[in-house]
Amino acid sequence: MALLLVAAAAQAWGVEGHYMVCKIAESYLTSEASVAVKGLLPESAGGELAAVCSWPDTERRQNPWSTPLHFADTPGDCKFSYARDCTGTNGEKDMCVVGAINNYTAALQDSSCPYNRTESLMFLAHFVGDVHQPMHCGRIADLGGNTVVVSWYTNKTNLHKVWDEKVIGTAMNRFYKDDLSTMIGAIKRNLTVVEKNKWEACPSRATSCADKFAEESAELSCPAYVGTEQGSNLEDEYFFKALPVVQKRIAQGGVRLAAILNRIFSGNSSSALQSI
Ligand SMILES: *[C@@H]1O[C@H](CO)[C@@H](O)[C@H](O)[C@H]1NC(C)=O
Ligand SMILES: *[C@@H]1O[C@H](CO)[C@@H](O)[C@H](O)[C@H]1NC(C)=O
Ligand SMILES: *[C@@H]1O[C@H](CO)[C@@H](O)[C@H](O)[C@H]1NC(C)=O
Ligand SMILES: *[C@@H]1O[C@H](CO)[C@@H](O)[C@H](O)[C@H]1NC(C)=O
Ligand SMILES: *[C@@H]1O[C@H](CO)[C@@H](O)[C@H](O)[C@H]1NC(C)=O
Repeated sequence: MALLLVAAAAQAWGVEGHYMVCKIAESYLTSEASVAVKGLLPESAGGELAAVCSWPDTERRQNPWSTPLHFADTPGDCKFSYARDCTGTNGEKDMCVVGAINNYTAALQDSSCPYNRTESLMFLAHFVGDVHQPMHCGRIADLGGNTVVVSWYTNKTNLHKVWDEKVIGTAMNRFYKDDLSTMIGAIKRNLTVVEKNKWEACPSRATSCADKFAEESAELSCPAYVGTEQGSNLEDEYFFKALPVVQKRIAQGGVRLAAILNRIFSGNSSSALQSI
């Protein structure tokens, strides 16, 4: 069971999903936050946050301790409850994606925290992406859709992967010439200032509001299960229902990651609106 979980849930949003979330976030950082972020990135990133946003998925294959931090599955009631859903199987506290976002946000805010700041940044950027993927707050019983075997236009896969990768892959292929930056551009052009302001908002004393993001994902996971019985073949009908949700969640992940980083590094969430 544990092995299956590690293997099956190895990817969150796929590499493309995480890249898009972080690329969108980069464009809404204040100049102060941007300098701070660049200062923490490993050399291999070449100054680009998006280049290392999948690092925790690689890390996790080597160090499975961080696996529970990638999701917050629920009993299937479309609701996220921190007390219920963020406790490890052995009663460990805060062991879910929401606890992890809070953990690494606090770590970056506290310069005396002994955690490696480069890793805290890469974990935070990754987990803010993960918490927006509805199947990361899916049902415990099927490991967030990982054990729901379905076909995607007759290719065998599972429901979790459909949401991590397949919808994005099909959209890229059909609408964006297989080019990530074209898809990112379309998602950003679609964003309104009103929406962006609403998504960024978080009560003054909280830096991340990650509970809210998980509540939204848990709610979105319920319709995402509809019509996905074991063995079903998902095609256009499912694709066109899922795509707007995927695009919106990627946009929200990016906007909110920027807002969190801006709060951490410049105490300023009214980021560069001119870059819309
Ligand atoms: C918080 O971060 C530290 C350092 O990476 C890690 O050991 C710990 O498990 C994390 N806890 C949570 C809930 O993320
Ligand atoms: C911090 O983490 C990065 C990425 O894993 C690593 O390259 C670096 O050596 C670490 N720094 C310290 C001081 O351990
Ligand atoms: C199905 O799999 C084939 C072979 O790997 C691949 O070429 C094709 O793009 C896949 N189709 C979809 C819609 O993912
Ligand atoms: C743009 O927004 C509309 C309405 O919310 C949505 O249906 C569509 O999927 C979005 N497109 C992109 C590229 O984000
Ligand atoms: C916050 O950011 C905005 C936009 O970048 C800037 O105009 C404003 O002066 C900043 N405020 C503070 C207190 O840093």
